[in-house]
Amino acid sequence: MSYKLGIIGAGKIGEALLSGAFAKGLFSPEEVILSVRTESHRQDLESRYKTAATLDNRLVAANSDIILLTVKPKAIVDIVNAVADCLKPGTLIVSAAAGVSLDVIESRVPGFVAVVRAMPSLAMLVGEGMTVVSPGKNVSAEQLGAAMKLFGSVGRAMQLDEQHMDAVTGLSGSGPAYVYIIIESLADGGVKMGLPRDAAIQLAAQTVLGAAKTVLSTGEHPAKLKDQVTTPAGVTIDGIMELEEGGLRVTLIKSVVKATERARQLLHK
Ligand SMILES: NC(=O)c1ccc[n+]([C@@H]2O[C@H](COP(=O)([O-])OP(=O)(O)OC[C@H]3O[C@@H](n4cnc5c(N)ncnc54)[C@H](OP(=O)(O)O)[C@@H]3O)[C@@H](O)[C@H]2O)c1
Repeated sequence: MSYKLGIIGAGKIGEALLSGAFAKGLFSPEEVILSVRTESHRQDLESRYKTAATLDNRLVAANSDIILLTVKPKAIVDIVNAVADCLKPGTLIVSAAAGVSLDVIESRVPGFVAVVRAMPSLAMLVGEGMTVVSPGKNVSAEQLGAAMKLFGSVGRAMQLDEQHMDAVTGLSGSGPAYVYIIIESLADGGVKMGLPRDAAIQLAAQTVLGAAKTVLSTGEHPAKLKDQVTTPAGVTIDGIMELEEGGLRVTLIKSVVKATERARQLLHK
Protein backbone atom coordinates (compact mmCIF):
# COMPACT_ATOMS: atom_id res chain seq x y z
CA MET A 1 0.00 0.00 0.00
CA SER A 2 1.62 3.22 -1.16
CA TYR A 3 0.20 6.64 -2.02
CA LYS A 4 1.67 9.69 -3.73
CA LEU A 5 -0.41 12.11 -1.65
CA GLY A 6 -1.82 11.77 1.85
CA ILE A 7 -3.96 14.52 3.37
CA ILE A 8 -4.26 14.53 7.17
CA GLY A 9 -7.29 16.68 8.02
CA ALA A 10 -9.10 16.82 4.68
CA GLY A 11 -11.36 19.78 5.55
CA LYS A 12 -11.95 22.97 3.54
CA ILE A 13 -8.32 23.64 2.59
CA GLY A 14 -7.41 19.97 2.08
CA GLU A 15 -10.45 19.37 -0.10
CA ALA A 16 -9.94 22.52 -2.15
CA LEU A 17 -6.41 21.42 -2.91
CA LEU A 18 -7.48 17.88 -3.66
CA SER A 19 -10.18 19.01 -6.11
CA GLY A 20 -7.72 21.28 -7.92
CA ALA A 21 -5.03 18.61 -8.08
CA PHE A 22 -7.53 16.11 -9.49
CA ALA A 23 -8.85 18.65 -12.00
CA LYS A 24 -5.29 19.27 -13.22
CA GLY A 25 -4.61 15.51 -13.40
CA LEU A 26 -1.75 15.63 -10.86
CA PHE A 27 -3.02 12.51 -9.10
CA SER A 28 -5.57 9.79 -9.66
CA PRO A 29 -7.90 8.67 -6.82
CA GLU A 30 -5.88 5.46 -6.25
CA GLU A 31 -2.79 7.55 -5.55
CA VAL A 32 -4.40 9.49 -2.69
CA ILE A 33 -5.34 8.73 0.91
CA LEU A 34 -7.25 11.10 3.20
CA SER A 35 -7.77 11.17 6.93
CA VAL A 36 -10.28 13.03 9.10
CA ARG A 37 -11.55 12.71 12.66
CA THR A 38 -15.18 11.63 12.26
CA GLU A 39 -16.59 8.53 10.57
CA SER A 40 -19.40 10.37 8.78
CA HIS A 41 -16.86 12.77 7.21
CA ARG A 42 -14.63 9.83 6.25
CA GLN A 43 -17.49 8.10 4.46
CA ASP A 44 -18.52 11.30 2.72
CA LEU A 45 -14.98 11.89 1.37
CA GLU A 46 -14.58 8.28 0.29
CA SER A 47 -17.82 8.31 -1.66
CA ARG A 48 -17.25 11.70 -3.30
CA TYR A 49 -13.60 11.29 -4.29
CA LYS A 50 -13.30 7.47 -4.59
CA THR A 51 -10.01 7.71 -2.70
CA ALA A 52 -8.90 5.74 0.33
CA ALA A 53 -10.12 7.52 3.48
CA THR A 54 -9.32 6.62 7.06
CA LEU A 55 -9.48 7.79 10.67
CA ASP A 56 -5.93 6.48 11.17
CA ASN A 57 -3.35 9.24 10.63
CA ARG A 58 -0.49 6.75 11.04
CA LEU A 59 -1.76 4.82 8.02
CA VAL A 60 -1.50 8.03 5.97
CA ALA A 61 1.89 8.99 7.42
CA ALA A 62 3.52 5.60 6.85
CA ASN A 63 2.39 5.21 3.26
CA SER A 64 2.44 8.61 1.54
CA ASP A 65 5.27 10.31 -0.40
CA ILE A 66 3.79 13.74 0.28
CA ILE A 67 1.80 14.34 3.47
CA LEU A 68 -0.33 17.44 3.49
CA LEU A 69 -1.18 18.58 7.03
CA THR A 70 -4.40 20.60 6.91
CA VAL A 71 -5.68 20.19 10.44
CA LYS A 72 -6.26 23.20 12.69
CA PRO A 73 -3.03 24.69 14.09
CA LYS A 74 -3.73 23.56 17.66
CA ALA A 75 -3.95 19.91 16.53
CA ILE A 76 -0.64 19.88 14.66
CA VAL A 77 1.76 19.08 17.52
CA ASP A 78 -0.25 16.10 18.79
CA ILE A 79 -0.64 14.68 15.30
CA VAL A 80 3.02 15.12 14.37
CA ASN A 81 4.08 13.50 17.65
CA ALA A 82 1.69 10.61 17.01
CA VAL A 83 2.95 9.82 13.51
CA ALA A 84 6.67 10.77 13.75
CA ASP A 85 7.99 7.24 14.30
CA CYS A 86 6.27 5.75 11.25
CA LEU A 87 7.53 8.28 8.68
CA LYS A 88 9.82 6.86 6.03
CA PRO A 89 12.94 8.41 4.46
CA GLY A 90 12.17 10.73 1.57
CA THR A 91 8.75 11.74 2.92
CA LEU A 92 7.74 15.36 2.35
CA ILE A 93 5.44 16.97 4.92
CA VAL A 94 3.62 20.08 3.73
CA SER A 95 1.96 21.97 6.57
CA ALA A 96 -0.69 24.58 5.81
CA ALA A 97 -1.35 25.37 9.46
CA ALA A 98 -1.32 29.10 10.13
CA GLY A 99 1.27 30.21 12.67
CA VAL A 100 2.99 26.83 13.00
CA SER A 101 6.71 27.26 12.31
CA LEU A 102 8.91 24.85 10.41
CA ASP A 103 10.87 24.29 13.61
CA VAL A 104 7.77 23.02 15.47
CA ILE A 105 7.47 20.19 12.96
CA GLU A 106 11.13 19.61 12.08
CA SER A 107 12.08 19.22 15.74
CA ARG A 108 9.54 16.39 16.12
CA VAL A 109 10.24 14.28 13.02
CA PRO A 110 13.33 12.28 11.99
CA GLY A 111 16.03 14.20 10.12
CA PHE A 112 15.37 12.28 6.91
CA VAL A 113 11.90 13.87 6.61
CA ALA A 114 11.57 17.10 4.62
CA VAL A 115 9.14 19.81 5.77
CA VAL A 116 7.58 22.66 3.81
CA ARG A 117 5.40 25.35 5.36
CA ALA A 118 2.65 26.84 3.22
CA MET A 119 0.17 29.67 3.62
CA PRO A 120 -2.69 29.11 1.18
CA SER A 121 -6.00 30.89 0.72
CA LEU A 122 -9.49 29.56 0.15
CA ALA A 123 -9.65 31.20 -3.31
CA MET A 124 -8.11 27.85 -4.27
CA LEU A 125 -11.76 26.80 -4.55
CA VAL A 126 -12.04 28.89 -7.73
CA GLY A 127 -8.53 28.12 -8.99
CA GLU A 128 -7.20 31.54 -7.90
CA GLY A 129 -5.47 30.75 -4.64
CA MET A 130 -2.29 32.54 -3.58
CA THR A 131 0.02 30.23 -1.70
CA VAL A 132 3.39 31.12 -0.27
CA VAL A 133 5.69 28.18 0.32
CA SER A 134 8.75 28.13 2.61
CA PRO A 135 11.08 25.14 2.47
CA GLY A 136 12.64 23.73 5.64
CA LYS A 137 16.16 22.39 6.17
CA ASN A 138 16.09 19.10 4.28
CA VAL A 139 13.91 19.94 1.29
CA SER A 140 15.32 18.92 -2.10
CA ALA A 141 14.72 20.96 -5.24
CA GLU A 142 12.50 18.15 -6.47
CA GLN A 143 10.39 18.18 -3.30
CA LEU A 144 10.05 21.96 -3.38
CA GLY A 145 9.02 21.67 -7.04
CA ALA A 146 6.37 19.09 -6.08
CA ALA A 147 4.94 21.43 -3.41
CA MET A 148 4.93 24.38 -5.82
CA LYS A 149 3.19 22.24 -8.46
CA LEU A 150 0.57 21.10 -5.98
CA PHE A 151 -0.38 24.64 -4.93
CA GLY A 152 0.13 25.90 -8.48
CA SER A 153 -2.69 23.58 -9.54
CA VAL A 154 -5.15 25.79 -7.60
CA GLY A 155 -3.75 29.25 -8.33
CA ARG A 156 -0.39 30.92 -7.89
CA ALA A 157 2.43 29.58 -5.76
CA MET A 158 5.41 31.64 -4.65
CA GLN A 159 8.48 30.70 -2.65
CA LEU A 160 9.52 33.03 0.17
CA ASP A 161 11.68 32.70 3.24
CA GLU A 162 9.80 31.67 6.40
CA GLN A 163 10.58 35.02 8.06
CA HIS A 164 7.96 36.59 5.78
CA MET A 165 5.10 34.25 6.72
CA ASP A 166 3.42 36.59 9.21
CA ALA A 167 3.34 39.41 6.65
CA VAL A 168 2.01 36.94 4.06
CA THR A 169 -0.74 35.98 6.52
CA GLY A 170 -1.57 39.67 7.05
CA LEU A 171 -1.65 40.39 3.30
CA SER A 172 -2.77 37.47 1.13
CA GLY A 173 -4.14 35.38 4.03
CA SER A 174 -6.45 38.07 5.41
CA GLY A 175 -6.61 40.07 2.17
CA PRO A 176 -9.69 38.39 0.67
CA ALA A 177 -11.76 39.82 3.56
CA TYR A 178 -10.47 43.35 2.85
CA VAL A 179 -11.24 42.99 -0.85
CA TYR A 180 -14.78 41.72 -0.15
CA ILE A 181 -15.36 44.90 1.85
CA ILE A 182 -13.95 47.01 -1.00
CA ILE A 183 -16.25 45.25 -3.49
CA GLU A 184 -19.25 45.69 -1.19
CA SER A 185 -18.45 49.38 -0.72
CA LEU A 186 -18.01 50.06 -4.44
CA ALA A 187 -21.34 48.33 -5.02
CA ASP A 188 -22.94 50.49 -2.29
CA GLY A 189 -21.68 53.51 -4.17
CA GLY A 190 -23.41 52.24 -7.30
CA VAL A 191 -26.60 51.56 -5.36
CA LYS A 192 -26.48 55.06 -3.88
CA MET A 193 -26.39 56.37 -7.41
CA GLY A 194 -29.38 54.22 -8.46
CA LEU A 195 -27.88 51.01 -9.83
CA PRO A 196 -29.73 47.77 -9.04
CA ARG A 197 -27.86 45.86 -6.25
CA ASP A 198 -27.09 42.77 -8.37
CA ALA A 199 -25.72 44.85 -11.21
CA ALA A 200 -23.65 46.98 -8.84
CA ILE A 201 -22.05 43.93 -7.19
CA GLN A 202 -21.22 42.40 -10.57
CA LEU A 203 -19.73 45.65 -11.83
CA ALA A 204 -17.64 46.07 -8.69
CA ALA A 205 -16.39 42.46 -8.57
CA GLN A 206 -15.49 42.32 -12.27
CA THR A 207 -13.71 45.67 -11.92
CA VAL A 208 -11.55 44.27 -9.12
CA LEU A 209 -10.92 41.08 -11.09
CA GLY A 210 -9.98 42.98 -14.24
CA ALA A 211 -7.65 45.35 -12.40
CA ALA A 212 -5.96 42.44 -10.60
CA LYS A 213 -5.51 40.51 -13.86
CA THR A 214 -4.05 43.59 -15.53
CA VAL A 215 -1.47 44.02 -12.76
CA LEU A 216 -0.48 40.35 -12.88
CA SER A 217 -0.42 39.93 -16.64
CA THR A 218 1.36 43.19 -17.55
CA GLY A 219 3.75 43.21 -14.58
CA GLU A 220 3.37 47.00 -14.56
CA HIS A 221 3.47 48.99 -11.32
CA PRO A 222 -0.14 49.67 -10.20
CA ALA A 223 0.60 53.42 -10.03
CA LYS A 224 1.45 53.45 -13.75
CA LEU A 225 -1.74 51.55 -14.59
CA LYS A 226 -3.73 54.02 -12.45
CA ASP A 227 -2.18 56.91 -14.38
CA GLN A 228 -3.17 55.25 -17.66
CA VAL A 229 -6.86 55.27 -16.72
CA THR A 230 -6.87 58.74 -15.16
CA THR A 231 -7.59 61.33 -17.82
CA PRO A 232 -6.46 64.90 -17.03
CA ALA A 233 -9.46 66.88 -15.80
CA GLY A 234 -11.54 63.73 -16.30
CA VAL A 235 -13.93 61.83 -14.07
CA THR A 236 -11.59 59.35 -12.35
CA ILE A 237 -9.30 61.94 -10.77
CA ASP A 238 -12.29 63.31 -8.85
CA GLY A 239 -12.95 59.84 -7.45
CA ILE A 240 -9.27 59.46 -6.55
CA MET A 241 -9.33 62.76 -4.65
CA GLU A 242 -12.13 61.37 -2.48
CA LEU A 243 -10.19 58.15 -1.86
CA GLU A 244 -7.13 60.09 -0.76
CA GLU A 245 -9.14 62.38 1.49
CA GLY A 246 -10.79 59.33 3.08
CA GLY A 247 -7.38 57.78 3.77
CA LEU A 248 -7.96 54.55 1.84
CA ARG A 249 -4.24 53.99 1.25
CA VAL A 250 -3.14 54.39 4.84
CA THR A 251 -6.12 52.39 6.09
CA LEU A 252 -5.19 49.42 3.89
CA ILE A 253 -1.51 49.68 4.86
CA LYS A 254 -2.45 49.73 8.54
CA SER A 255 -4.80 46.76 8.16
CA VAL A 256 -1.94 44.62 6.80
CA VAL A 257 0.35 45.83 9.61
CA LYS A 258 -2.23 45.00 12.32
CA ALA A 259 -3.05 41.58 10.88
CA THR A 260 0.67 40.77 10.56
CA GLU A 261 1.23 41.71 14.20
CA ARG A 262 -1.71 39.52 15.21
CA ALA A 263 -0.33 36.59 13.18
CA ARG A 264 2.99 37.03 15.02
CA GLN A 265 1.22 36.65 18.38
CA LEU A 266 -0.52 33.45 17.32
CA LEU A 267 2.69 31.40 17.04
CA HIS A 268 2.01 27.81 18.00
CA LYS A 269 4.99 26.33 19.77
N1 LIG B 1 -9.58 28.22 5.76
C1 LIG B 1 -8.66 29.09 5.33
O1 LIG B 1 -8.96 30.08 4.64
C2 LIG B 1 -7.19 28.86 5.62
C3 LIG B 1 -6.23 29.70 5.02
C4 LIG B 1 -4.88 29.45 5.28
C5 LIG B 1 -4.49 28.39 6.11
N2 LIG B 1 -5.45 27.61 6.69
C6 LIG B 1 -4.99 26.52 7.56
O2 LIG B 1 -5.46 25.30 7.03
C7 LIG B 1 -5.73 24.40 8.08
C8 LIG B 1 -7.09 23.78 7.85
O3 LIG B 1 -8.08 24.79 7.85
P1 LIG B 1 -9.54 24.46 7.29
O4 LIG B 1 -10.24 25.77 7.19
O5 LIG B 1 -9.45 23.56 6.10
O6 LIG B 1 -10.13 23.63 8.55
P2 LIG B 1 -11.32 22.57 8.57
O7 LIG B 1 -12.25 22.76 7.43
O8 LIG B 1 -11.88 22.59 9.96
O9 LIG B 1 -10.59 21.17 8.35
C9 LIG B 1 -9.85 20.53 9.33
C10 LIG B 1 -10.09 19.04 9.18
O10 LIG B 1 -9.22 18.37 10.10
C11 LIG B 1 -9.88 17.20 10.52
N3 LIG B 1 -9.31 16.78 11.79
C12 LIG B 1 -9.47 17.35 13.02
N4 LIG B 1 -8.75 16.66 13.94
C13 LIG B 1 -8.14 15.65 13.27
C14 LIG B 1 -7.29 14.60 13.66
N5 LIG B 1 -6.89 14.44 14.94
N6 LIG B 1 -6.85 13.74 12.70
C15 LIG B 1 -7.22 13.88 11.41
N7 LIG B 1 -8.04 14.85 10.97
C16 LIG B 1 -8.49 15.73 11.90
C17 LIG B 1 -11.33 17.57 10.64
O11 LIG B 1 -12.08 16.38 10.45
P3 LIG B 1 -13.62 16.23 10.92
O12 LIG B 1 -14.42 17.05 9.95
O13 LIG B 1 -13.90 14.77 10.78
O14 LIG B 1 -13.68 16.74 12.33
C18 LIG B 1 -11.51 18.58 9.50
O15 LIG B 1 -12.05 17.99 8.37
C19 LIG B 1 -5.63 25.18 9.39
O16 LIG B 1 -4.42 24.83 10.04
C20 LIG B 1 -5.57 26.62 8.96
O17 LIG B 1 -4.70 27.39 9.79
C21 LIG B 1 -6.78 27.81 6.45
